Amino acid sequence: MKIEVNGMQLAYETREGVGPPIVLVHGFGLDRSIWRLSADKHLSSRQVILPDVRGHGGSDAPKGPYPIAALAQDLAQLIDLLGFERVVVCGHSMGGYVALAFAKGFPHRLAGLGLITTNAGSDSAEKRAGRYALIEEVRQRGSVAVAERLAPKLSHNPVVIDEAYRLICQTSPQGLIGALEGMAERPDRSALLRKIDVPALVVAGEDDQIADLEGARAMAATLPKGAFVSLPGVGHMPMLEAPGALGSALQSLMDRVNN
Ligand code: MLT
Repeated sequence: MKIEVNGMQLAYETREGVGPPIVLVHGFGLDRSIWRLSADKHLSSRQVILPDVRGHGGSDAPKGPYPIAALAQDLAQLIDLLGFERVVVCGHSMGGYVALAFAKGFPHRLAGLGLITTNAGSDSAEKRAGRYALIEEVRQRGSVAVAERLAPKLSHNPVVIDEAYRLICQTSPQGLIGALEGMAERPDRSALLRKIDVPALVVAGEDDQIADLEGARAMAATLPKGAFVSLPGVGHMPMLEAPGALGSALQSLMDRVNN
């Protein structure tokens, strides 16, 4: 389905169920399909909203930058249009940056928070410079430049790497550039964590080559209602590498939200 949000067509799908909805926000270069394995098995009794972030999947890819706060506003408007007041927002990697921006901008609308293989900090100078260098490469060579660089780091599982490579190549250069610019300039949200007083879940992959395991543990310890799950043998993509374990963790988060 598509809906007009902030002057753009945003693609999304929903699942019917009980209780507050959970919005699952995918990471950079990917799309909503990555959540289906976890959502359909483990959240089948819940209302689920799966958006394609601006610039990704079936959503429009206007010219960037896409500030992370603007991506959170897209979510808030989507939720308004679907008629929901409060939601659980769960984000993977870049989607986690969006979830934290939603917590900052719309605290009264947040019923729970999930942070999956992500972090609350901003980019180091080196990381930011790397993003701008990658933007130049995408301008020259297209989306394959991101796929070649990012996909092999996402997992040790070749099937997962192939799927991520395929999804990144399907994402438009303009969408990737807009998101890279947004991520490069995102603020540090570490100080926000201790103010997020809703049930929260932090999931880390013990073999993640992108998001730091100890940083994830520290985020869970700082969140007033933070639970921590670390998945052995899993990299940056638990929704594809360990969909059952991730689904169970999300189910426990939703049980805590209802209680
Ligand atoms: C992602 O997986 O969403 C990105 O790798 C996050 C990032 O580059 O910071």
